[in-house]
Amino acid sequence: MVEGVRAPENLLVGGVFRAAAGGRTMAVEDPATGERLALVADGATSDAAAAVDAAAAAQPAWQAASAYERAKVLRKWFELQQRDKENLARLMTLENGKPLKESYAEVDYAASFVEWFAEEAKRVYGRVVPASRSDKRLLVLKQAVGVVAAITPWNFPAAMITRKVAPALAAGCAVVLKPAPETPLTALRLGELLLEAGGPAGVLNVVPTTEAAAFADAWLGDPRVRKITFTGSTAVGKELMRKAAGHVQKVSLELGGQAPFIVFDDADLDQAAVGIATAKFRNAGQTCVAANRILVQQGVAEAFTDRIVEQVRRMRVGHGLAEGVEIGPMISERGRQKVLAHVEDAVSQGAAVRLGGGVMSGPGYFVEPTVLTGVSSKMRVMREETFGPVIAVATFREEREAIAIANQTEYGLAAYFFTRDAARAWRVAEALEYGIVGLNDGAFSTAQAPFGGYKESGLGREGGLEGIEEFLETKFVSWGGVDAGL
Ligand code: SIN
Repeated sequence: MVEGVRAPENLLVGGVFRAAAGGRTMAVEDPATGERLALVADGATSDAAAAVDAAAAAQPAWQAASAYERAKVLRKWFELQQRDKENLARLMTLENGKPLKESYAEVDYAASFVEWFAEEAKRVYGRVVPASRSDKRLLVLKQAVGVVAAITPWNFPAAMITRKVAPALAAGCAVVLKPAPETPLTALRLGELLLEAGGPAGVLNVVPTTEAAAFADAWLGDPRVRKITFTGSTAVGKELMRKAAGHVQKVSLELGGQAPFIVFDDADLDQAAVGIATAKFRNAGQTCVAANRILVQQGVAEAFTDRIVEQVRRMRVGHGLAEGVEIGPMISERGRQKVLAHVEDAVSQGAAVRLGGGVMSGPGYFVEPTVLTGVSSKMRVMREETFGPVIAVATFREEREAIAIANQTEYGLAAYFFTRDAARAWRVAEALEYGIVGLNDGAFSTAQAPFGGYKESGLGREGGLEGIEEFLETKFVSWGGVDAGL
């Protein structure tokens, strides 16, 4: 392991860190340099099965523990993440590439889900329903769904884990977790901290692997796994849904996005410019909620584009550990090539490059922050998720047109719009076919609110009151023969 950070390099199964079956390992690299950071155990299919064995063994006692006992473990886990903040932040910057300031913010964001669900554990109420007959009592109980399989991405190596694992544990479920092979170190460290917090052996099993499809088959082919929760691409999400049909496992999916970012001519342009900095450049544009299609009303298009170009020109690109860096690398050469292909496609169809458009010289998977104008709906930047630091600006004449363009996609995760007109604010918020709407806000993500998409952007919600519901079954108890005569 590279110096200055600490994380286990072995699988966590049944409360023990151990090598993968067969002893296979995989290299974890720094995307800003291409250098190796660590060699981590690369789980085999038999490890996937062993993880389910461990979770299934831990499930009954964890489910039977009181909500207060589970909340106590989660609260301690939250505190340990705060204690380990510097280490977790550095790990994330090294294996994901994001600037250190963003990694610190992610530790807080990740921990906030643990804190929130530690409290929500105590508020899983159920209810008593008035019956239509006096000799009956109708009870609605909420119970843990059972063993949960969680598959998480590399773009938020900590937060996408806690957003799934914390509500699952709060509800009384044991978890098997496959973190992304690009960022297993943060995941393994989180597993280690949960053990230190008093999490019983087997309630969280962390199994990095390069065999994603075999793991999905193993977990969804096992009827003891009752739920799968996944963040990643829509294509993989659909495949998981198909596989979950075999045992009718519950499914939560947080999938791709194609977020429109609409600036009306009555918007506060300073506010919109601040909004786009987060909505576009957080994690170098590698977020599912990244603003992908920038739609600016004609009257302010030139002024707003000039402002963005100036703002982006000043942003510093580099290694995330370096002082003042605001934009890191793409996660891989493949990620970088996709971004470049989108730019090339737009330019070949008539878009103008106002800034950037190429690769940065030197090691690592960097691309230049880019601003394109004159984009149209035929171009890939307007139809697909770019997942990179590219601002593609198109213009529109009137509100109706902006809404039509915004909704013209199979995705429906997040949308942003900026206006100072209250009537328009209501109208547009209601008309957008998206699970999350940022109204004069480029940074809406928070543990207290539901996060998730319409249409092909997913199923279910993470965070908020809704987040724990995803891990609960509803049981109706009809209690007859109650003698009401006194
Ligand atoms: C994501 O990109 O999927 C998550 C972004 C967020 O939680 O804000």
